[in-house]
Amino acid sequence: MNFNDRIQLISGIEGEVDSEECEILYELAKKCKKGVIVEIGSYKGLSTVCLGYGSMDGFKKRVYGVDTFVGTGEKANLNLPSYLSEFRKNIFNNRLHKLVKPRVGLSIEVAKTFKQKIGLLFIDGGHAYEDIKSDFKSWSPKMIKGGVIAFHDIDSWTEPTRFINENIRGNKKYERLGQVKSVFYIRV
Ligand SMILES: C[S@@+](CC[C@H](N)C(=O)[O-])C[C@H]1O[C@@H](n2cnc3c(N)ncnc32)[C@H](O)[C@@H]1O
Repeated sequence: MNFNDRIQLISGIEGEVDSEECEILYELAKKCKKGVIVEIGSYKGLSTVCLGYGSMDGFKKRVYGVDTFVGTGEKANLNLPSYLSEFRKNIFNNRLHKLVKPRVGLSIEVAKTFKQKIGLLFIDGGHAYEDIKSDFKSWSPKMIKGGVIAFHDIDSWTEPTRFINENIRGNKKYERLGQVKSVFYIRV
């Protein structure tokens, strides 16, 4: 299977990534050979399903979607009901429930007990500078050597872009692999 076979199924889910961004997430997940796949900020599962299908069509690595599922940061509204059930429904309707698992909680708290090595990390949680900094700091040490980290909303949102400009671009520790729309990805 390839992305074009999957796009119809993905397109009904509400979310924040467009079709080209979906495709690059799918392709990165499909290439992930070692380690698990982790997403920080799953919302209702659009980007998670892209990662899930990529993994299913690739090396079938487990995908973890980390989120409070009640909104945090720019989506904060603790009066709203949790959208975890909607996330689960979207994962189930795409028959990805054996491969894709939610991890419910604040990302830095989930990181403390997460012991597996990560081959692909997608960061799309809180969009304040300090949120991205703490997500990067708490999750990047879990990466396998040669793993890939992708960031969302780069060059389209001020704070994520500032984080990348100040810490990643021009830093010889990281190899820039590419950018598709606002998905910027590096090898670590
Ligand atoms: C931009 S949305 C993610 C969109 C999703 N990746 C998509 O493409 O549809 C950000 C999500 O990150 C979650 N979030 C923000 N800060 C968080 C934190 N510190 N810990 C866990 N989840 C967080 C929010 O609850 C929200 O669902």
